[in-house]
Parts: sequence; C-alpha cells; structure tokens
Amino acid sequence: MKKISELVKERPWVGWALYVVTILVVFGLGVLGSSIIERRQESNQIIQNVKPISDWEPNNEKWGENYPREYETYLSTLDTSFASKHGGSKNIDMLEKYPDLVVLWAGYAFSRDYNQGRGHYYAIRDIRKTLRTDVPQPATCWACKSTDVPRVINQKGAGEFYKSQWKDLGSEIVNPIGCQDCHDPKTMNLRITRPALIEAFERQGKDIKNSTHQEMRSLVCAQCHVEYYFKGKTEKYLTFPWDKGFTVEDMEKYYDEVGHVDFVHALSKTPIVKAQHPDYELFKMGIHNERGVSCAECHMPYKSDGGVKFTDHKIQSPLNNISNSCQVCHRESEDNLRKNVYDRQDKVLELSDLATKSLVKVHIEAKTAWDNGATEEQMKPILKLIRNAQWRWDFVAASHGGSFHAPLECARILGNAVQKSEEARMLLTSVLISLGVKVPVQIPDITTKEKAQIYIGLDMEELKRKKAEFLTNEVPVWDRTAEERGSKVNYDMKNK
Ligand code: HEC
Ligand code: HEC
Ligand code: HEC
Ligand code: HEC
Repeated sequence: MKKISELVKERPWVGWALYVVTILVVFGLGVLGSSIIERRQESNQIIQNVKPISDWEPNNEKWGENYPREYETYLSTLDTSFASKHGGSKNIDMLEKYPDLVVLWAGYAFSRDYNQGRGHYYAIRDIRKTLRTDVPQPATCWACKSTDVPRVINQKGAGEFYKSQWKDLGSEIVNPIGCQDCHDPKTMNLRITRPALIEAFERQGKDIKNSTHQEMRSLVCAQCHVEYYFKGKTEKYLTFPWDKGFTVEDMEKYYDEVGHVDFVHALSKTPIVKAQHPDYELFKMGIHNERGVSCAECHMPYKSDGGVKFTDHKIQSPLNNISNSCQVCHRESEDNLRKNVYDRQDKVLELSDLATKSLVKVHIEAKTAWDNGATEEQMKPILKLIRNAQWRWDFVAASHGGSFHAPLECARILGNAVQKSEEARMLLTSVLISLGVKVPVQIPDITTKEKAQIYIGLDMEELKRKKAEFLTNEVPVWDRTAEERGSKVNYDMKNK
C-alpha cells in the first residue's frame, strides 16, 4: 500500500478531503462534548430547588412542588387495590384472618386490633383509628409515622419527645411519612432523621455518616422497619436492641440482660417480649443483602416518564411491579418469579402455623395449671421456655417481608420456636398430671376473632364506642390546632 504522503502528492484532492473530514470530526466531537456537559448541568439542576424548602419542612406537598414525579408516585401509596397471596396494600383484618393471634397476644393491645400494613400515606390515619391507641401510650408511638417527628424532635430534643404522652402531641404530628423522613431539603441527599438508628450505630462504635450510598438506600428504611423497644418506665426512650448483634438470639440476650418485658400474658402469666417488625434485621440474613442489593432496589425501582429516569416513590409490594423490581436483575418470567416468592412464603407460613398452634395450646395449658394450684417454682422453667418460643415466633410473624427476604433464617427461627414451645408443653403435662388434671386440656372454641376476644375477656363494643368518641371529639381539635400553626391537614384522608 502507498504511503498517504505519496498518495497526496499524486492526487492533491485527497489531501483536501482528509483536511475537511478531520475538521468535521473535531467539530462533531466538540458538539458531543458540549452536549454531555449540558446534560450534566441539567441533571444537576434537577436537584436544585425551584422553590427553596425550609429546614424541617413537614408538608409533603411543598416538597412536591419541586419534585412532581417523586411526589405523584409517593401519593399513589394511597392505592389499596393490590393484594398478593400474603401481602399487598389491602386493609386486611389480621385477627379475623388468624384468630389464634388474639390468644397469643392476650393482655396486650394487639389482641384488640391488628391490620395488615399499607401505604405510607395512611400512617397517621391508621394510628389514630387503631384500638391499640386507646390505652395511654407514650409519644414514642408517633416516632415512625410522620414527617413532623424530626421537626418536633428538633424543637424539644428526643428525650422530651419520647417522655410526652401520645395524645399530647396529637396536634403536632399530622403529616404522614414522607420526604423529610429520608431527604435533606437542601441537597436532596438521603439522610437519617431518627436518633434511635444513629444511636444504635454509635453504641456499636460505628458512625452512620460513614455509610456508603448503597447502604443508605436500606438505612433510610431501617429508621422504622426494625425491632425496637421503649427504654425506661417514664423515659420511654426509643431504643434498638442491637448491642449484641442482629440475630434473634442476640436480641433475646440483650432483652434478658436488661430484664425487658412488654406485657405479662393474661392466660399463662409469661413475661413476654413483643417483637415489632425486624424487617431490616431479617433482610440482613438473606441472599439479596449478601449480594449487596438494597431495599430501594425492589421497593423503589427506577421508572421512566417522558425520557426522564427517576426513583418510583410508590413504596409497595414488589409483586405489583415485577418487571421493574425483579426483572432488571433476573431473566425469569413474571410467573416464575412470583412462584419463587410464594413458594418461600408458603413454606415459612407452614412452619409458623405449627408454632402458632403449639403456642396457643401452651398458653391455655399453663393457665389450667395455674387455675389448679401450680406453684411459681413449678412454672418458672416453663414460662421461660414460653417466653423464648413466643419471641421467636413473633420475630418472624411481625417481619412483614421476612419469609421472602430471608426464608432460611425464618425457618431456622421457627424450628426453634416449635421445639421450645413443645418442650414447655412436655414439662406442663407432668405438672398437670401431678395436680390431678386430666390431659389433654380442652381447647375452647376460638375459631373466630369474636370468639377468641370473648374468651380472653375483651369488651369490644365498649372499646369501639370509646374510639368513635375520640375520633369525633378529640381528633378534629388536633386538626384545627395544626391548621392554625400552618400545617395543611389532608381532609380526604380523615375518614378513609
Ligand atoms: C430482592 C427484592 C427485595 C428487597 C431487596 C427487599 N424486599 Fe421487601 N419484599 C420483597 C418481596 C417480594 C416481598 C413480598 C411482597 C408480597 O408478599 O406481596 C417483600 C415484602 C416486604 C414488606 C411487606 C409488604 C407487604 O405488602 O406485605 C415490607 C414492609 C418490606 N418488604 C420491607 C423491606 C425492607 C425494609 C427492605 C430492606 C431492609 C426490603 N424490604 C428489601 C422484596 C424485596
Ligand atoms: C422512605 C424514604 C424516602 C421517602 C419518604 C422519600 N424518598 Fe425520595 N428517594 C429515596 C431513595 C432511596 C431515593 C434514591 C436515592 C439514591 O439512590 O440516591 C430517592 C430519590 C429521590 C430524588 C432524586 C431523584 C430520583 O428520583 O432518583 C428526589 C428528587 C426525591 N427522592 C424526592 C422525594 C420527594 C419529593 C419525596 C416526598 C414526596 C420523597 N423523595 C420521599 C427515599 C425516599
Ligand atoms: C418514618 C418511618 C418509615 C420509614 C422511613 C419507612 N417506612 Fe415503610 N412503613 C412505615 C409504616 C408506619 C407503615 C405502615 C403504614 C400503615 O399501614 O398505615 C409502612 C408500610 C410499608 C410497606 C407496606 C406498604 C404496602 O402497600 O404493602 C412497605 C412495603 C414499606 N413500608 C417499605 C418501606 C421501605 C422499602 C422503606 C425505605 C425505602 C420504608 N418503608 C421506609 C414506616 C416507615
Ligand atoms: C439488584 C439485583 C436484584 C434484584 C432487583 C432482585 N434480585 Fe433476586 N437475586 C439477585 C442476586 C445477585 C441473587 C443471588 C443469586 C446468585 O448470586 O447467583 C438473587 C437471588 C434470588 C433468588 C434465589 C434466592 C434463594 O433462595 O437462593 C430468588 C428467588 C430471587 N432472587 C427473586 C427475586 C425477586 C422475586 C425479585 C423482585 C422482587 C428480585 N429477586 C430482585 C439479584 C437481584
């Protein structure tokens, strides 16, 4: 082949052609470069507020003026139409579905009323309406419900906040979970607003500020979707029991050492620890966490709207959106992926059901033993086993996604729950025989929620009457006071 210089000597127009092509290429590259820079600036501008958002702004609508896509998808957590086999956003009465729960929680407010969790937008409305908030509750109960919580904690300090009564803060806490709970209003970076999570990290010698971006995409959820308790008789200081680790045994050791008891069981007199919702902790034991997948990947996948890619803020069951939630990583069909989820959930539920049935019997048998004159001494080792068994069962039952997030860990925990409950029953059998009681003990008819509630001695009509009175008399005063302060209360929400 001839050299270019020789070619140009022979045919000068080739030289000119090369010259022009080079200019065009350079010009093209220039245009491309400047468009890339422009795009970058555009994407930076997305995060520049059109209307500045003030610090501690609880009103989600105000944030929404700057970020309409995120706001609109957030608003759609109002949609309660989706139900999967075991989850979803429908308002399902869990006590009606599983009347055994009434017996397991006898002596605790959960035996009155317990519904399936639904979208974040319902948080304020649901806590006002539940029959669980009629007993005097500390303000700590508001902690995971509202964007007003960081605002009021900033004013009062966390200690003062938790020490107040739930009802005393009714007019302050009116906006449901939203933007300020997870975002810094100036930069829109993810941030942690709940002191309990920061403090739990500190006690483990870790600074939460050193977390990676990917960790933050789960930690924002770990502000609320975790196991917790209220520390101190009057302080009611919101505390995560993680000092010894994240397993069910680690937390049990912690609770045993501090002697924590949530309630004394009305039938068996067992000092029970009620598990809350250890979603984050159980998720940590599963394969997706091990592979570095965060909560946001499945519950807040990316979405496109007119060529703009953004984070879907309709936080919900991923089964309502398998293509965006799962198929970005998995090639299997929607049907297969759904089946994978149901298979794991069904198997964990089968074990959970064994534990539930065994625990119902053990509480009733223990009551029978007490009724027939069993001594504290005889009952002590039995009650310890019941405490251990119920804690394990509840740890799985209360973690709403655990049976998919970490099915193997759930199965392990439930296996231990069944073993401990059955061991307690064996010990009880010999106590009952020594007291001259005929075994097996007859189990009363508790096949419906109503029957179970009558059996444990609840006056549901009275509880419902008091709640209706509270909703008509007290709640409107809260809302009026909130509006006078400038917080817009969402009227459509009031009676939904
Ligand atoms: C790999 C995907 C994936 C990740 C990551 C993930 N989840 Fe889930 N989550 C699911 C699936 C699937 C369900 C079951 C939904 C159903 O049954 O309808 C679920 C259920 C839930 C539920 C109950 C929802 C309902 O409708 O019943 C909650 C709450 C939850 N997850 C929170 C979390 C939190 C918090 C994290 C992070 C610590 C997390 N999830 C991480 C897939 C995921
Ligand atoms: C439960 C936590 C949570 C809440 C509540 C929340 N966000 Fe987000 N938001 C996230 C996460 C997680 C991301 C992804 C951030 C990332 O990966 O950097 C995100 C991303 C964003 C972004 C960056 C652009 C994008 O779409 O990825 C904006 C803007 C935003 N959110 C606005 C809002 C607004 C407005 C609200 C209230 C209506 C809100 N967020 C409520 C967790 C939350
Ligand atoms: C400020 C506390 C708080 C934060 C932060 C929070 N949640 Fe929730 N979440 C709740 C509460 C409370 C409910 C139940 C609301 C109800 O039923 O009224 C809930 C409900 C849910 C549900 C059930 C919704 C449905 O339609 O089935 C899912 C799923 C969920 N959260 C996932 C997440 C994920 C993922 C994150 C992090 C990106 C997160 N949450 C952050 C408090 C929180
Ligand atoms: C960000 C990527 C990612 C997303 C999103 C994701 N997964 Fe996965 N998933 C993985 C990885 C990685 C593994 C581990 C498999 C491996 O390493 O070979 C896994 C494993 C699994 C497994 C096998 C678990 C077991 O028991 O061994 C199932 C089932 C599964 N995913 C279902 C889902 C479903 C359903 C969703 C949506 C709700 C989902 N995944 C979303 C990455 C993802």
